[in-house]
Amino acid sequence: MAKHSDDVRDGFTSKFGIICAAAGSAIGLGNIWRFPYVVGDSGGGAFLLIYLGFIVLLGIPVMLSEFIIGRRGQRNAFGSFKRLAPGKPWYLVGVMGIVAAFMILAFYSTIAGWTLHYVIQSFANTFAGKTSTEITRIFEDFHTQAFLPLLWQIIFLAMTAWIIFSGVKKGIEKYTKVLMPFLVLLLIIMAIRSVTLEGSYEGVLFLFKPDFSAVDSGVLLAALGQAFFSLSIGMGALITYGSYIGKQNNLGNIAVEVSLADTLIAILAGVAIFPAVFAFGLDPAEGPGLIFTVLPNIFHQMPGGYFFSIIFFVLLAIAALTSSISILEVVVAYLTEELNLTRHKATFMAVIAAAFVGIFCTLSFGTLKNITISELGIFGLLDFTASNLLLPLGGLLIVVFVGWYMKKKDVKEEVSNRGTLKVRFFDVLRFILKFIAPVAIAIVLFDSLGIIDRLTG
Ligand code: PHE
Repeated sequence: MAKHSDDVRDGFTSKFGIICAAAGSAIGLGNIWRFPYVVGDSGGGAFLLIYLGFIVLLGIPVMLSEFIIGRRGQRNAFGSFKRLAPGKPWYLVGVMGIVAAFMILAFYSTIAGWTLHYVIQSFANTFAGKTSTEITRIFEDFHTQAFLPLLWQIIFLAMTAWIIFSGVKKGIEKYTKVLMPFLVLLLIIMAIRSVTLEGSYEGVLFLFKPDFSAVDSGVLLAALGQAFFSLSIGMGALITYGSYIGKQNNLGNIAVEVSLADTLIAILAGVAIFPAVFAFGLDPAEGPGLIFTVLPNIFHQMPGGYFFSIIFFVLLAIAALTSSISILEVVVAYLTEELNLTRHKATFMAVIAAAFVGIFCTLSFGTLKNITISELGIFGLLDFTASNLLLPLGGLLIVVFVGWYMKKKDVKEEVSNRGTLKVRFFDVLRFILKFIAPVAIAIVLFDSLGIIDRLTG
């Protein structure tokens, strides 16, 4: 049993460092695809401010807590809880994380598949000379059909599985280190192009001028879910990674740096998208297709746009891969430890099962469009349940575990590397973990579910 988990542990850290792995997990479609569309759906500026508040007040403490649990437990999400709280039901937090990982992988691979398709379309120069209406129509035709989106989804899942079991992740990470700064550079260039388009100012206002009149409990929950999704927290991915972190590393620093990088990239994506949305007269609230209808328009208006477009979608697909492997890893680590499966078998089973659910997600944009529950299709339902319910609930239990269950001395030992680091922020951290974070997450979560109303009403 231990052998499997040690296999899992080796790959990431030894050579390329935990920051790289954790940032690779955090930075992905969540920043560039999901963030802009959720901001658009949720009304812009006010959402952004709330989101930033949640990142600082809740996101960083939850991330740090996951690292603490993982490094102290020296196991994956499930095993770490079992070790730190033997005989107690805390391991169920790990089980919940596995369920969430599974759901996220299913819908994540739909969008990653679209990204792969857009790599090919960029090569083929499909969007050259097209108006923004035509670009939108091309996207509509593509994502509502069955065959191509499914094909790309399966290809993406196969790539994820292949990396997980062949150990190529080392190679991938080596490249990621060089490639991700490129992605940032490209986003900066695109952002500059976007804000200099005619008619873009309204988009800048949309993103940065808060209008709190539209904020309701649904918007708060969307911001919380987006913060957790983007930081890869609440389901134990970073507990697993935390167990790879060396005893000499500063957990607090890592949490802050990864969160900062993740947030900057999301904002950059927002600055690239919204000015262009308004310049081209598109709808900011159009949903999950937003970047696929907006970005080709931007590339159009850029010198060298043909190449930019290819490079961008390739980099986005790679960013998606470094995130999806961290999601699959949660499931695989569980299967190898709990059911004693070999790594190959576990990966194979997990990815087949994710593909099965994923197929329904992909088809829910076309063939299965009519299957809905309270206005959400299959895709939306899985995304909502995993990102907005399971991740916050997981995060809540994680901070309660570190704030209330673990001994203060043990937590301090982990954060301060056995007293070798000065942690002046420790009392603040402890206060946040004990009171602020659990209360805030609980209020947002339960309020939006109507539970508070029911209790007080
Ligand atoms: N944070 C990743 C992204 O932004 C997605 C993810 C969610 C990864 C949850 C792991 C856990 O794309």
